[in-house]
Amino acid sequence: MNASEYYRFAEGRRSTRLFRDEPVDPDAVKRIIHAATLAPTACNRQLWDFVVVTDTKVKDRVLRLSHAEQSYLHDAPVLLAVFYDATLESRNPCFTPYVTAGMAIYALLLAAEAEGLGAIYLGGIRRPKGVAEALGAPAYATNLGLICLGQRADNPPAPPHRQVDDITGYNAFRLTPKRYHADIRPHLWSLPQIADFRDKLLWYKGVAIDGPTLHVDNDARFSPKCLFVTGELGRLTQERAPAKVLDVFSYNGDMVQQLLNSAGDELETLYAYDLTPGILEYVRVRLSGRCDLARVQYLLNRTEERIDIPLPDQHVDVVLCYERLEHFEDPLPLVREMRRVLKPDGRILVAVSNRFYPHLYRYRRTHRKDYSLGRNWNRGPERKYEPGQLARCFREAGLTVVQVTGLQPVSQKLFEVAEKAARRLGWQGLGDWLADRRGQHYSTRSWLRNFSSVQVYELSAS
Ligand SMILES: Cc1cc2nc3c(=O)[nH]c(=O)nc-3n(C[C@H](O)[C@H](O)[C@H](O)COP(=O)(O)O)c2cc1C
Repeated sequence: MNASEYYRFAEGRRSTRLFRDEPVDPDAVKRIIHAATLAPTACNRQLWDFVVVTDTKVKDRVLRLSHAEQSYLHDAPVLLAVFYDATLESRNPCFTPYVTAGMAIYALLLAAEAEGLGAIYLGGIRRPKGVAEALGAPAYATNLGLICLGQRADNPPAPPHRQVDDITGYNAFRLTPKRYHADIRPHLWSLPQIADFRDKLLWYKGVAIDGPTLHVDNDARFSPKCLFVTGELGRLTQERAPAKVLDVFSYNGDMVQQLLNSAGDELETLYAYDLTPGILEYVRVRLSGRCDLARVQYLLNRTEERIDIPLPDQHVDVVLCYERLEHFEDPLPLVREMRRVLKPDGRILVAVSNRFYPHLYRYRRTHRKDYSLGRNWNRGPERKYEPGQLARCFREAGLTVVQVTGLQPVSQKLFEVAEKAARRLGWQGLGDWLADRRGQHYSTRSWLRNFSSVQVYELSAS
Protein backbone atom coordinates (compact mmCIF):
# COMPACT_ATOMS: atom_id res chain seq x y z
CA MET A 1 0.00 0.00 0.00
CA ASN A 2 1.51 3.38 -0.93
CA ALA A 3 1.06 6.56 1.08
CA SER A 4 -1.96 7.90 -0.79
CA GLU A 5 -3.68 4.50 -0.57
CA TYR A 6 -3.04 4.50 3.16
CA TYR A 7 -4.50 7.99 3.61
CA ARG A 8 -7.55 7.04 1.59
CA PHE A 9 -7.97 3.93 3.73
CA ALA A 10 -7.64 5.92 6.99
CA GLU A 11 -10.08 8.53 5.68
CA GLY A 12 -12.59 5.79 4.91
CA ARG A 13 -12.68 4.44 8.46
CA ARG A 14 -15.92 5.35 10.22
CA SER A 15 -17.44 4.56 13.56
CA THR A 16 -20.28 2.11 12.98
CA ARG A 17 -23.42 2.40 15.04
CA LEU A 18 -25.74 0.02 13.23
CA PHE A 19 -24.85 -3.67 13.03
CA ARG A 20 -26.34 -6.58 11.14
CA ASP A 21 -27.38 -9.62 13.13
CA GLU A 22 -24.63 -11.81 11.65
CA PRO A 23 -21.75 -13.57 13.38
CA VAL A 24 -18.12 -12.48 13.03
CA ASP A 25 -15.38 -14.92 12.04
CA PRO A 26 -13.44 -15.65 15.30
CA ASP A 27 -10.17 -15.76 13.32
CA ALA A 28 -10.81 -12.21 12.11
CA VAL A 29 -11.27 -11.12 15.74
CA LYS A 30 -7.93 -12.72 16.59
CA ARG A 31 -6.22 -10.94 13.72
CA ILE A 32 -7.72 -7.65 14.84
CA ILE A 33 -6.42 -8.12 18.39
CA HIS A 34 -3.04 -9.06 16.93
CA ALA A 35 -3.03 -5.66 15.22
CA ALA A 36 -3.49 -4.05 18.64
CA THR A 37 -0.44 -5.87 19.96
CA LEU A 38 1.64 -4.22 17.23
CA ALA A 39 0.91 -0.74 18.59
CA PRO A 40 3.67 1.13 20.40
CA THR A 41 3.64 0.70 24.17
CA ALA A 42 5.46 2.55 26.96
CA CYS A 43 8.74 0.68 27.66
CA ASN A 44 7.29 -2.12 25.57
CA ARG A 45 5.45 -3.28 28.70
CA GLN A 46 2.31 -4.33 26.84
CA LEU A 47 0.17 -4.29 29.95
CA TRP A 48 -3.09 -4.62 28.00
CA ASP A 49 -5.71 -7.33 28.16
CA PHE A 50 -8.74 -7.86 25.98
CA VAL A 51 -11.93 -9.82 26.57
CA VAL A 52 -14.01 -10.94 23.59
CA VAL A 53 -17.69 -11.10 24.52
CA THR A 54 -20.01 -13.05 22.24
CA ASP A 55 -22.26 -14.84 24.73
CA THR A 56 -25.48 -12.85 25.03
CA LYS A 57 -25.87 -13.61 28.75
CA VAL A 58 -22.38 -12.29 29.48
CA LYS A 59 -23.07 -9.30 27.26
CA ASP A 60 -26.29 -8.54 29.14
CA ARG A 61 -24.38 -8.69 32.43
CA VAL A 62 -21.69 -6.35 31.07
CA LEU A 63 -24.28 -3.83 29.92
CA ARG A 64 -26.33 -4.07 33.10
CA LEU A 65 -23.40 -3.61 35.48
CA SER A 66 -21.80 -0.85 33.42
CA HIS A 67 -25.10 1.06 33.01
CA ALA A 68 -24.35 1.27 29.28
CA GLU A 69 -27.35 2.21 27.18
CA GLN A 70 -26.15 2.70 23.62
CA SER A 71 -28.10 0.56 21.19
CA TYR A 72 -24.99 -0.51 19.30
CA LEU A 73 -23.74 -2.32 22.39
CA HIS A 74 -26.88 -4.45 22.26
CA ASP A 75 -26.80 -4.95 18.50
CA ALA A 76 -23.12 -5.71 17.87
CA PRO A 77 -22.44 -9.46 17.76
CA VAL A 78 -18.99 -9.00 19.35
CA LEU A 79 -17.90 -6.71 22.17
CA LEU A 80 -14.25 -6.26 22.93
CA ALA A 81 -13.48 -5.02 26.43
CA VAL A 82 -10.17 -3.17 26.68
CA PHE A 83 -8.17 -3.34 29.92
CA TYR A 84 -4.87 -1.85 30.87
CA ASP A 85 -2.80 -2.26 34.03
CA ALA A 86 -2.42 1.38 34.93
CA THR A 87 -1.01 0.73 38.41
CA LEU A 88 2.66 0.77 37.46
CA GLU A 89 2.67 4.01 35.48
CA SER A 90 -0.03 5.70 37.50
CA ARG A 91 2.09 8.80 38.21
CA ASN A 92 3.55 9.20 34.78
CA PRO A 93 3.12 12.86 33.79
CA CYS A 94 2.30 11.91 30.20
CA PHE A 95 -0.41 9.44 31.26
CA THR A 96 1.39 6.67 29.39
CA PRO A 97 -1.03 3.82 30.26
CA TYR A 98 -3.94 5.65 28.68
CA VAL A 99 -1.94 6.79 25.68
CA THR A 100 -0.78 3.23 25.12
CA ALA A 101 -4.29 1.84 25.38
CA GLY A 102 -5.51 4.53 22.96
CA MET A 103 -2.93 3.53 20.39
CA ALA A 104 -3.97 -0.11 20.68
CA ILE A 105 -7.62 0.87 20.29
CA TYR A 106 -6.94 2.84 17.11
CA ALA A 107 -4.92 -0.07 15.74
CA LEU A 108 -7.94 -2.30 16.44
CA LEU A 109 -10.32 0.05 14.66
CA LEU A 110 -8.10 0.27 11.58
CA ALA A 111 -7.68 -3.50 11.50
CA ALA A 112 -11.46 -3.96 11.72
CA GLU A 113 -11.81 -1.59 8.76
CA ALA A 114 -9.23 -3.60 6.82
CA GLU A 115 -11.22 -6.78 7.59
CA GLY A 116 -14.32 -5.10 6.14
CA LEU A 117 -15.99 -5.03 9.55
CA GLY A 118 -17.77 -2.17 11.29
CA ALA A 119 -16.42 -1.06 14.65
CA ILE A 120 -16.82 1.69 17.20
CA TYR A 121 -14.98 2.51 20.39
CA LEU A 122 -17.13 3.66 23.30
CA GLY A 123 -15.78 5.64 26.16
CA GLY A 124 -19.24 6.92 27.08
CA ILE A 125 -19.86 4.13 29.53
CA ARG A 126 -21.21 5.30 32.84
CA ARG A 127 -19.60 2.64 34.99
CA PRO A 128 -16.54 0.99 33.41
CA LYS A 129 -15.94 -0.76 36.74
CA GLY A 130 -19.09 -2.74 35.98
CA VAL A 131 -17.44 -4.09 32.82
CA ALA A 132 -14.53 -5.31 34.96
CA GLU A 133 -16.91 -6.84 37.52
CA ALA A 134 -19.01 -8.60 34.90
CA LEU A 135 -15.95 -10.13 33.28
CA GLY A 136 -14.12 -11.10 36.47
CA ALA A 137 -11.15 -8.77 35.85
CA PRO A 138 -8.56 -8.50 38.62
CA ALA A 139 -8.24 -5.24 40.57
CA TYR A 140 -5.13 -4.07 38.72
CA ALA A 141 -6.84 -4.18 35.31
CA THR A 142 -8.60 -0.90 34.56
CA ASN A 143 -11.37 -1.09 32.04
CA LEU A 144 -10.94 1.59 29.40
CA GLY A 145 -14.12 1.07 27.46
CA LEU A 146 -15.67 -1.27 24.93
CA ILE A 147 -15.38 -1.80 21.20
CA CYS A 148 -18.35 -3.04 19.19
CA LEU A 149 -17.53 -5.26 16.22
CA GLY A 150 -19.73 -6.69 13.49
CA GLN A 151 -21.02 -6.42 9.96
CA ARG A 152 -21.98 -2.82 9.41
CA ALA A 153 -25.50 -1.81 8.51
CA ASP A 154 -24.87 1.91 8.18
CA ASN A 155 -22.78 4.00 5.86
CA PRO A 156 -22.31 7.32 7.60
CA PRO A 157 -20.69 10.27 5.86
CA ALA A 158 -17.41 11.58 7.25
CA PRO A 159 -17.88 14.12 10.01
CA PRO A 160 -16.18 17.49 9.53
CA HIS A 161 -12.51 17.46 10.53
CA ARG A 162 -10.47 20.39 11.75
CA GLN A 163 -7.95 21.62 9.22
CA VAL A 164 -4.25 20.83 9.71
CA ASP A 165 -3.33 24.50 9.43
CA ASP A 166 -5.79 25.38 12.20
CA ILE A 167 -4.29 22.97 14.69
CA THR A 168 -0.59 22.77 13.85
CA GLY A 169 2.12 25.09 15.09
CA TYR A 170 5.65 25.13 13.73
CA ASN A 171 8.31 25.67 16.39
CA ALA A 172 5.75 27.31 18.64
CA PHE A 173 2.24 26.56 19.82
CA ARG A 174 -0.26 27.96 17.40
CA LEU A 175 -2.95 29.86 19.25
CA THR A 176 -5.87 29.63 16.92
CA PRO A 177 -8.80 31.94 17.56
CA LYS A 178 -11.30 29.23 16.65
CA ARG A 179 -10.25 26.67 19.23
CA TYR A 180 -13.03 25.68 21.57
CA HIS A 181 -12.54 25.39 25.31
CA ALA A 182 -12.37 22.70 27.89
CA ASP A 183 -14.66 24.94 29.89
CA ILE A 184 -18.36 25.38 29.37
CA ARG A 185 -18.80 28.86 30.85
CA PRO A 186 -20.43 30.80 27.99
CA HIS A 187 -18.73 34.13 28.67
CA LEU A 188 -15.48 32.53 27.47
CA TRP A 189 -16.86 31.64 24.06
CA SER A 190 -16.94 33.75 20.94
CA LEU A 191 -19.55 33.06 18.29
CA PRO A 192 -17.06 31.36 15.90
CA GLN A 193 -16.00 29.11 18.76
CA ILE A 194 -19.58 28.11 19.53
CA ALA A 195 -20.10 27.44 15.83
CA ASP A 196 -16.95 25.32 15.63
CA PHE A 197 -17.92 23.29 18.66
CA ARG A 198 -21.45 22.58 17.46
CA ASP A 199 -20.18 21.86 13.96
CA LYS A 200 -17.86 19.07 15.11
CA LEU A 201 -19.69 17.78 18.12
CA LEU A 202 -22.97 17.12 16.46
CA TRP A 203 -21.67 14.21 14.47
CA TYR A 204 -20.50 12.20 17.44
CA LYS A 205 -23.56 10.03 17.48
CA GLY A 206 -23.64 9.40 13.77
CA VAL A 207 -26.48 10.28 11.47
CA ALA A 208 -28.42 7.04 11.30
CA ILE A 209 -28.69 6.06 14.86
CA ASP A 210 -32.01 6.91 16.37
CA GLY A 211 -34.15 6.32 13.32
CA PRO A 212 -34.08 2.56 13.01
CA THR A 213 -33.06 1.94 16.64
CA LEU A 214 -35.08 3.95 19.06
CA HIS A 215 -33.44 2.42 22.09
CA VAL A 216 -30.35 4.60 22.00
CA ASP A 217 -29.93 6.56 25.20
CA ASN A 218 -33.18 8.04 26.46
CA ASP A 219 -34.92 9.02 23.31
CA ALA A 220 -35.24 12.77 23.58
CA ARG A 221 -37.93 12.98 20.93
CA PHE A 222 -40.41 11.16 23.12
CA SER A 223 -39.64 12.92 26.37
CA PRO A 224 -42.67 14.78 27.77
CA LYS A 225 -40.67 18.00 27.41
CA CYS A 226 -40.21 17.51 23.70
CA LEU A 227 -43.81 16.43 23.25
CA PHE A 228 -45.03 19.56 25.04
CA VAL A 229 -42.92 21.85 22.85
CA THR A 230 -43.88 20.12 19.61
CA GLY A 231 -47.54 20.28 20.66
CA GLU A 232 -47.31 24.04 21.25
CA LEU A 233 -45.42 24.47 18.00
CA GLY A 234 -48.15 22.58 16.16
CA ARG A 235 -50.86 24.77 17.71
CA LEU A 236 -49.10 28.04 16.80
CA THR A 237 -48.47 26.80 13.26
CA GLN A 238 -52.08 25.72 12.83
CA GLU A 239 -53.35 29.12 14.03
CA ARG A 240 -51.26 30.89 11.39
CA ALA A 241 -51.78 28.54 8.45
CA PRO A 242 -50.23 28.46 5.92
CA ALA A 243 -47.29 29.31 8.17
CA LYS A 244 -43.61 29.96 7.68
CA VAL A 245 -41.76 28.46 10.65
CA LEU A 246 -38.17 29.14 11.69
CA ASP A 247 -36.27 26.57 13.79
CA VAL A 248 -33.35 28.39 15.42
CA PHE A 249 -30.21 26.23 15.71
CA SER A 250 -31.79 23.10 14.36
CA TYR A 251 -28.88 21.03 15.64
CA ASN A 252 -29.90 17.40 15.18
CA GLY A 253 -33.07 18.15 13.28
CA ASP A 254 -35.46 16.54 15.77
CA MET A 255 -37.87 19.48 15.69
CA VAL A 256 -37.72 19.69 11.90
CA GLN A 257 -38.58 16.01 11.71
CA GLN A 258 -41.45 16.24 14.19
CA LEU A 259 -43.03 19.19 12.45
CA LEU A 260 -42.64 17.80 8.94
CA ASN A 261 -44.10 14.45 9.90
CA SER A 262 -47.08 15.91 11.71
CA ALA A 263 -47.97 19.05 9.76
CA GLY A 264 -50.18 19.13 6.71
CA ASP A 265 -51.03 22.14 4.58
CA GLU A 266 -50.81 24.47 7.58
CA LEU A 267 -47.03 24.43 7.16
CA GLU A 268 -45.79 26.38 4.15
CA THR A 269 -42.02 26.57 4.70
CA LEU A 270 -39.77 25.35 7.47
CA TYR A 271 -36.51 27.25 7.80
CA ALA A 272 -33.73 25.30 9.52
CA TYR A 273 -31.22 27.92 10.62
CA ASP A 274 -27.78 27.23 12.04
CA LEU A 275 -24.24 28.51 12.34
CA THR A 276 -22.24 26.23 10.04
CA PRO A 277 -22.87 24.32 6.81
CA GLY A 278 -21.69 21.16 8.63
CA ILE A 279 -24.69 21.23 10.96
CA LEU A 280 -27.16 21.81 8.16
CA GLU A 281 -25.58 19.00 6.16
CA TYR A 282 -25.94 16.74 9.20
CA VAL A 283 -29.63 17.60 9.49
CA ARG A 284 -30.12 17.00 5.76
CA VAL A 285 -28.33 13.63 5.71
CA ARG A 286 -29.94 12.48 8.92
CA LEU A 287 -33.47 13.30 7.86
CA SER A 288 -33.40 12.34 4.20
CA GLY A 289 -35.47 9.23 3.80
CA ARG A 290 -37.22 9.89 7.11
CA CYS A 291 -39.34 12.79 6.03
CA ASP A 292 -40.16 14.77 2.93
CA LEU A 293 -37.72 17.66 2.96
CA ALA A 294 -39.32 19.60 0.09
CA ARG A 295 -40.70 22.27 2.44
CA VAL A 296 -37.37 22.75 4.27
CA GLN A 297 -35.00 25.60 3.51
CA TYR A 298 -31.59 25.52 5.14
CA LEU A 299 -30.35 28.87 6.37
CA LEU A 300 -26.75 29.61 7.26
CA ASN A 301 -25.86 32.50 9.57
CA ARG A 302 -24.84 35.37 7.30
CA THR A 303 -21.55 36.25 8.96
CA GLU A 304 -19.12 34.55 11.33
CA GLU A 305 -18.93 37.39 13.78
CA ARG A 306 -22.50 37.95 14.90
CA ILE A 307 -25.94 36.45 14.84
CA ASP A 308 -27.52 37.39 11.53
CA ILE A 309 -30.43 35.31 10.28
CA PRO A 310 -30.57 35.51 6.46
CA LEU A 311 -34.25 36.40 6.26
CA PRO A 312 -35.98 39.72 5.58
CA ASP A 313 -37.73 41.61 8.39
CA GLN A 314 -41.19 40.39 9.43
CA HIS A 315 -41.01 37.25 7.35
CA VAL A 316 -41.98 34.28 9.53
CA ASP A 317 -45.10 33.37 11.47
CA VAL A 318 -43.57 31.15 14.15
CA VAL A 319 -40.05 30.96 15.58
CA LEU A 320 -38.86 28.07 17.71
CA CYS A 321 -35.77 28.18 19.91
CA TYR A 322 -35.52 24.98 21.90
CA GLU A 323 -32.88 25.16 24.66
CA ARG A 324 -30.40 27.12 22.59
CA LEU A 325 -30.31 30.51 24.38
CA GLU A 326 -28.25 28.64 26.97
CA HIS A 327 -25.17 28.81 24.73
CA PHE A 328 -24.86 32.56 25.25
CA GLU A 329 -23.84 34.70 28.14
CA ASP A 330 -25.95 37.44 26.60
CA PRO A 331 -28.91 36.07 24.61
CA LEU A 332 -30.11 39.52 23.50
CA PRO A 333 -28.54 39.55 19.99
CA LEU A 334 -30.19 36.24 19.13
CA VAL A 335 -33.54 37.25 20.64
CA ARG A 336 -33.41 40.56 18.70
CA GLU A 337 -32.86 38.67 15.46
CA MET A 338 -35.80 36.39 16.18
CA ARG A 339 -37.90 39.47 16.82
CA ARG A 340 -36.71 41.14 13.61
CA VAL A 341 -37.80 38.31 11.34
CA LEU A 342 -41.16 37.82 13.11
CA LYS A 343 -44.37 39.01 11.45
CA PRO A 344 -46.39 41.48 13.58
CA ASP A 345 -48.95 38.83 14.57
CA GLY A 346 -46.37 36.01 14.79
CA ARG A 347 -45.30 34.03 17.85
CA ILE A 348 -41.94 32.96 19.27
CA LEU A 349 -41.65 29.78 21.32
CA VAL A 350 -38.59 29.59 23.54
CA ALA A 351 -37.69 26.75 25.92
CA VAL A 352 -34.97 27.55 28.46
CA SER A 353 -33.32 25.85 31.40
CA ASN A 354 -34.14 27.51 34.70
CA ARG A 355 -31.55 28.45 37.27
CA PHE A 356 -33.96 28.25 40.19
CA TYR A 357 -34.76 24.59 39.78
CA PRO A 358 -32.86 22.54 42.34
CA HIS A 359 -30.91 20.50 39.83
CA LEU A 360 -29.06 18.94 42.78
CA TYR A 361 -26.02 17.16 41.47
CA ARG A 362 -26.26 18.96 38.14
CA TYR A 363 -26.33 22.40 39.66
CA ARG A 364 -23.02 24.19 39.89
CA ARG A 365 -22.24 27.78 40.66
CA THR A 366 -19.38 29.23 38.70
CA HIS A 367 -16.58 31.58 39.70
CA ARG A 368 -18.70 34.30 38.20
CA LYS A 369 -21.69 34.70 40.44
CA ASP A 370 -24.14 35.69 37.77
CA TYR A 371 -24.84 32.30 36.33
CA SER A 372 -24.83 28.61 36.95
CA LEU A 373 -24.03 25.81 34.58
CA GLY A 374 -25.41 22.54 33.40
CA ARG A 375 -23.26 19.46 33.64
CA ASN A 376 -23.86 18.01 30.23
CA TRP A 377 -20.57 18.37 28.43
CA ASN A 378 -21.92 17.22 25.13
CA ARG A 379 -23.98 20.37 24.72
CA GLY A 380 -21.10 22.83 24.61
CA PRO A 381 -21.23 26.13 26.49
CA GLU A 382 -24.36 26.04 28.56
CA ARG A 383 -25.80 28.22 31.28
CA LYS A 384 -29.08 28.40 33.12
CA TYR A 385 -31.23 31.53 33.30
CA GLU A 386 -33.19 33.25 36.01
CA PRO A 387 -36.75 34.10 34.90
CA GLY A 388 -36.08 37.80 35.71
CA GLN A 389 -33.08 37.92 33.35
CA LEU A 390 -35.15 36.53 30.53
CA ALA A 391 -38.03 38.90 31.21
CA ARG A 392 -35.62 41.85 30.88
CA CYS A 393 -34.09 40.43 27.71
CA PHE A 394 -37.45 39.86 26.03
CA ARG A 395 -38.60 43.37 26.98
CA GLU A 396 -35.43 44.93 25.56
CA ALA A 397 -35.89 43.02 22.32
CA GLY A 398 -39.42 44.40 21.96
CA LEU A 399 -41.28 41.22 22.89
CA THR A 400 -44.25 40.61 25.16
CA VAL A 401 -44.70 37.41 27.14
CA VAL A 402 -48.04 35.86 26.19
CA GLN A 403 -47.66 32.92 28.56
CA VAL A 404 -45.04 30.97 30.47
CA THR A 405 -45.31 27.28 31.27
CA GLY A 406 -42.98 25.55 33.70
CA LEU A 407 -42.05 21.98 32.82
CA GLN A 408 -40.97 19.54 35.51
CA PRO A 409 -41.78 21.87 38.43
CA VAL A 410 -40.18 21.26 41.78
CA SER A 411 -43.49 19.83 43.07
CA GLN A 412 -43.06 16.96 40.65
CA LYS A 413 -39.60 16.33 42.05
CA LEU A 414 -40.99 16.28 45.59
CA PHE A 415 -43.61 13.70 44.63
CA GLU A 416 -40.87 11.64 43.05
CA VAL A 417 -38.70 11.71 46.18
CA ALA A 418 -41.70 10.87 48.37
CA GLU A 419 -42.69 8.03 46.06
CA LYS A 420 -39.23 6.50 46.24
CA ALA A 421 -39.25 6.74 50.03
CA ALA A 422 -42.69 5.13 50.22
CA ARG A 423 -41.63 2.24 48.02
CA ARG A 424 -38.48 1.74 50.03
CA LEU A 425 -40.67 1.39 53.12
CA GLY A 426 -42.84 -1.13 51.29
CA TRP A 427 -45.89 1.17 51.09
CA GLN A 428 -46.73 0.35 47.49
CA GLY A 429 -50.27 1.77 47.63
CA LEU A 430 -48.97 5.15 48.74
CA GLY A 431 -46.16 4.85 46.17
CA ASP A 432 -48.72 4.36 43.39
CA TRP A 433 -50.78 7.33 44.58
CA LEU A 434 -47.70 9.56 44.69
CA ALA A 435 -46.62 8.36 41.23
CA ASP A 436 -50.05 9.31 39.98
CA ARG A 437 -49.78 12.79 41.47
CA ARG A 438 -46.28 13.17 40.04
CA GLY A 439 -47.66 12.52 36.54
CA GLN A 440 -50.26 15.27 37.02
CA HIS A 441 -47.62 17.82 37.99
CA TYR A 442 -45.55 17.76 34.82
CA SER A 443 -46.39 21.27 33.68
CA THR A 444 -47.68 24.33 35.47
CA ARG A 445 -48.62 27.94 34.91
CA SER A 446 -48.78 28.69 38.64
CA TRP A 447 -45.97 30.54 40.50
CA LEU A 448 -44.22 27.15 40.70
CA ARG A 449 -43.21 27.72 37.09
CA ASN A 450 -40.39 29.83 38.54
CA PHE A 451 -39.04 26.66 40.14
CA SER A 452 -39.35 24.41 37.12
CA SER A 453 -36.55 22.66 35.34
CA VAL A 454 -37.48 24.25 32.01
CA GLN A 455 -39.66 27.21 31.14
CA VAL A 456 -41.45 27.54 27.86
CA TYR A 457 -42.23 31.12 26.81
CA GLU A 458 -44.72 32.12 24.18
CA LEU A 459 -43.81 35.61 22.98
CA SER A 460 -45.38 38.14 20.66
CA ALA A 461 -44.11 41.37 19.17
CA SER A 462 -44.85 44.29 21.53
C1 LIG B 1 -12.25 8.33 23.60
C2 LIG B 1 -13.42 8.15 22.68
C3 LIG B 1 -14.67 7.90 23.23
C4 LIG B 1 -15.78 7.69 22.41
N1 LIG B 1 -16.97 7.40 22.97
C5 LIG B 1 -18.06 7.25 22.19
C6 LIG B 1 -19.33 6.97 22.76
O1 LIG B 1 -19.46 6.83 23.96
N2 LIG B 1 -20.39 6.85 21.93
C7 LIG B 1 -20.26 6.97 20.59
O2 LIG B 1 -21.27 6.86 19.90
N3 LIG B 1 -19.08 7.21 20.00
C8 LIG B 1 -17.97 7.34 20.78
N4 LIG B 1 -16.75 7.58 20.20
C9 LIG B 1 -16.63 7.66 18.73
C10 LIG B 1 -16.64 9.12 18.27
O3 LIG B 1 -17.90 9.70 18.44
C11 LIG B 1 -16.23 9.15 16.80
O4 LIG B 1 -14.94 8.62 16.69
C12 LIG B 1 -16.22 10.58 16.25
O5 LIG B 1 -17.54 11.09 16.22
C13 LIG B 1 -15.63 10.66 14.85
O6 LIG B 1 -16.30 9.80 13.96
P1 LIG B 1 -15.52 8.67 13.13
O7 LIG B 1 -14.95 7.70 14.14
O8 LIG B 1 -16.55 8.03 12.24
O9 LIG B 1 -14.43 9.36 12.38
C14 LIG B 1 -15.63 7.76 21.00
C15 LIG B 1 -14.36 8.01 20.45
C16 LIG B 1 -13.27 8.18 21.29
C17 LIG B 1 -11.91 8.41 20.68
